[in-house]
Amino acid sequence: MIIRGGTVVSAHDMAKADVAVKDGLVVAVGTFDGTAAEEIDATSLLVMPGGVDTHVHLEEPSRGPQISDDFRSGTASAAAGGTTTVITFARQGKGQSMTAVVADYAERARKAIVDYAFHLTISDPTPDVVDVEVPALVAQGHRSIKIFMTYDGVRVDDNAVIRILATARRSGALLCVHAEHHDLISWMGEQLVAAGLTAPKYHPWGKPMIAEREAVHRIISLAEALDCPIQIFHVSGAESAHEIERAQARGLKVWGETCPHYFVLTEGDLDRPGFEGAKFIFGPPARTAADHETLWQAVRSGVLEVISSDHAPTNFDDPKGKKFAGEDGPFTKVPNGIPGLAARLPVFFTEGVSKGRIDAPTFVRLVSTNPAKLVGLHPKKGAIAPGSDADIVIWDPRKSLTLTNALMHHGGDYTPYEGYQATGYPVRTLVRGVTVFDGTSIVAPPGHGQFLPRGPYAKVEPLGRFPTPFNPVDRKIVR
Ligand code: URP
Ligand code: ZN
Ligand code: ZN
Repeated sequence: MIIRGGTVVSAHDMAKADVAVKDGLVVAVGTFDGTAAEEIDATSLLVMPGGVDTHVHLEEPSRGPQISDDFRSGTASAAAGGTTTVITFARQGKGQSMTAVVADYAERARKAIVDYAFHLTISDPTPDVVDVEVPALVAQGHRSIKIFMTYDGVRVDDNAVIRILATARRSGALLCVHAEHHDLISWMGEQLVAAGLTAPKYHPWGKPMIAEREAVHRIISLAEALDCPIQIFHVSGAESAHEIERAQARGLKVWGETCPHYFVLTEGDLDRPGFEGAKFIFGPPARTAADHETLWQAVRSGVLEVISSDHAPTNFDDPKGKKFAGEDGPFTKVPNGIPGLAARLPVFFTEGVSKGRIDAPTFVRLVSTNPAKLVGLHPKKGAIAPGSDADIVIWDPRKSLTLTNALMHHGGDYTPYEGYQATGYPVRTLVRGVTVFDGTSIVAPPGHGQFLPRGPYAKVEPLGRFPTPFNPVDRKIVR
């Protein structure tokens, strides 16, 4: 196959070139005479590495609210938005074996349309899980761990955080963290509800920036004490970004992720008639226009280097979704999370490239190359270069359209971006050289997606730097 005449965008530059693909791999980038069995005309289009979305919640079993996407609909949504790799969450429930959870999740994932890997979400940190099962699973290719510092049922306390940091360091896994102060948030929620302030618009008051900033500071401090690289998930605004910037200035391996919704939504979006504001309940919450500006600076400077979707959808009009406690239920009982997989690239391209805030290579870096590097998948993913998987999105930077729920190709009944005016949209998505989205429809069958085992990688190697001469993880004096 030759993709001809487009502008190929890499993480650092862009130039007109053809892309030759054979057996699912990119074999050459240049100018080619002759013809191929399949030719794709990309004249006046951008040819970019497919999106790599490293924060996607699909089909996590739950006795409470239900995620509205399984692996088929979720990965269809990925393809429709130009994303070719997703990292989802094998989430352990209380009392469950992590090994059994991963085996069950791997079965569910067999219907994926795009490629995938799993983060291991630990929510019952018994010594057996932390010290035996997780290191074995990491060695088998599941090279990232996720923890929540808040949310009943899944959060782990500081003692467990420390033990999990030690395991991540020893086993060479990336630790990803949802950082918010649980007790503060719980107490704030109780006070708001007791005061009768229960509508969705009070959700941001119940999860103030200080609760996020404190937890970001705390997890960075603990990671620094154990010399363990970490990624902070979904940085919502200035104060957390500044904590990460300070950590990076100390030379620490602390990476920050944020999401398109933190650039376009504000607290004001939760203040809509009736229960509509619940469509915008996610955690940490939307902040302010000033936070948007700081986040733009942070992605331009590299302090935040990954844009993911944090796709965590539930239906709106559904007692298993946003209406879990009814339309009059308090915001504290509304499930956190919104759909965003298909919208991630179009919204971030529109806000970033089309509106002149970043250039196209920076866009590619943030949505594809950096995430692939951080989870140990680069250059197989996140690049258009000889030897890379031919995961490619062909993109019309001038295509203008109004987002609707139908365009998201997901399982849910709403998108928070309904009516959003996008400029820049995928016209074709290929996974390993096979077209999975043709600009209108999903054209690859469930099962086209493949699991991506990950080997050890240098990015997450520790620094070898401790606050004292003692390495507490390996119980050794190091200097
Ligand atoms: O509100 C959110 N983000 N819900 C999904 C779970 C998480 O926190 O990542
Ligand atoms: Zn989270
Ligand atoms: Zn999440």
